[in-house]
Amino acid sequence: MSKVKEEIARRRTFGIVSHPDAGKTTLTEKLLLFGGAIQEAGAVKSNKVKKGATSDFMEIERQRGISVATSVMGFEYKGQKINILDTPGHQDFAEDTYRTLTAVDSVIVVIDVAKGVEPQTEKLVEVCRMRDTPIIVFINKLDREGKDAYDLLDEIEEKLGLSVCPLSWPIGMGAEFKGVYNIWESNLKLFTEAKKQKIGEALQIDSLEDSAMDDLVGKEHALNLREELALITGVYPDFEKDAYLSGAISPVFFGSALNNFGVEELLNCFVDIAPPPLPKHTLQREVIPSENMFSGFVFKIHANMDPKHRDRLAFLKIVSGTFKRNTNYTHTRLGKSLKFSNPTAFMASKKSVVDIAYPGDIVGLHDTGNFRIGDTLTGGEALEFKGIPSFSPEHFRFVNNADPLKAKQLNKGIDQLMDEGVAQLFTLISNNRKIIGTVGALQYEVIQYRLEHEYGAKCTYENYSAYKACWIESEDQQQLEEFMRLKNRYLAEDKYGQLVFLADSSFSLNMAKEKFDRLTFHFKSEF
Ligand code: G4P
Repeated sequence: MSKVKEEIARRRTFGIVSHPDAGKTTLTEKLLLFGGAIQEAGAVKSNKVKKGATSDFMEIERQRGISVATSVMGFEYKGQKINILDTPGHQDFAEDTYRTLTAVDSVIVVIDVAKGVEPQTEKLVEVCRMRDTPIIVFINKLDREGKDAYDLLDEIEEKLGLSVCPLSWPIGMGAEFKGVYNIWESNLKLFTEAKKQKIGEALQIDSLEDSAMDDLVGKEHALNLREELALITGVYPDFEKDAYLSGAISPVFFGSALNNFGVEELLNCFVDIAPPPLPKHTLQREVIPSENMFSGFVFKIHANMDPKHRDRLAFLKIVSGTFKRNTNYTHTRLGKSLKFSNPTAFMASKKSVVDIAYPGDIVGLHDTGNFRIGDTLTGGEALEFKGIPSFSPEHFRFVNNADPLKAKQLNKGIDQLMDEGVAQLFTLISNNRKIIGTVGALQYEVIQYRLEHEYGAKCTYENYSAYKACWIESEDQQQLEEFMRLKNRYLAEDKYGQLVFLADSSFSLNMAKEKFDRLTFHFKSEF
């Protein structure tokens, strides 16, 4: 195998997603500990917004600084180069998470054993399932009382639409938590108070009938475990790697991230089964990682924290070929040639300048305003990667200029913040008024603050009552014209000039759908 092919084959780029507080940060940190990327717990600060600080945007600004460092955490484990892409836990930043999910090849979903499937988990898994991203489930906090394992698996199947395949099984839980039986490796790991916080050695059990197990976990638990494992084999499908890779089944592990328990099993299985970088579609053709020509796309843009330097860091996922420092690449949307003298690689929470990077890797590129989320960079061919859709925002407000002398600054600021993906901009067709749509109300404060501090512009907001933004697709020009005439005051263009219907209620949306049956109303911008 050539060096490049070897490098591609050993890369695993994934994201950890969860509802806030399920244990994503703790698990990330424990994975980094196993990978030897950090020496002690607490070394990785999460980019989540601290509890109780939901309306405090200064806290968000602070976290914005931290989140550059934790955006990508790379480490080596068992000969593989593993890249964890961090996703913000706060639901107001869900859009950021959706975009990051376009750059991962697989995900681990963390679920709190007591809370089960929570709303944010549902949304995120839905986004993963749209692309058939392979998913491993980690059920966390087994050291606490929680839901019965079978009930929880039912809930996961029902609410997340996943077909699960347990690869480990808990023995008791909460105060009675004895450990997990690792179905994947056929061994038993005991959870004892003494071993808390330490990495326990797995006990090899040759056969479940081994009477040593009765002594280790107690007769009753041993009996239960035998019965439950027998049941599992009957109820759930056998693990098949291809089924996992196609997104058809999801292996499940149980453990306690805080106690470092069950995490090693998860990681060992992950390195065995998780996919290397995958081919990706462009509007023109499919791109294969082992192709000679370099290609990649921008999935995240981070503004500089220092308002005096308006440069930004664009995060590029490499899809094919190799990315080299000081080499000319084509920015296909602008048709411009660009080269980068200081591309950044990320290892754990450290950054360094990189000379060469391979498919699966993420590099940070200093940007003075050339990039927009979704942009493609190639070795010359005019390609555009697909798959970074915008979703309908939840909140809508008119944005007004509060300082007439600073109109230019305001427009530039709004433009750049939208390129960064902070929120979405819609321009009403009837009067050109600008509406900002966001996932969370918090973003309005962030935008106002950043416009003032980074662009010297002032804005005010005015309520705009809309229920959902729908992107309109039409097969019938005549019907489209009729729709545009009748619904004129609810129609806008997004920043790419696509037609958007800002429905004011679910009722009016349904009426419109009925009346204009040759139009399709999409809740996302790519279809
Ligand atoms: P998140 O990134 O998904 O939002 O969750 P995070 O890891 O921050 O974990 C949320 C809380 O759950 C933290 O407690 C964390 O210590 C706790 N936790 C994580 N894994 C486990 C586990 O296996 N067992 C138990 N019992 N708790 C767990 P916190 O009190 O909110 O924060 P902290 O003071 O511990 O940092």
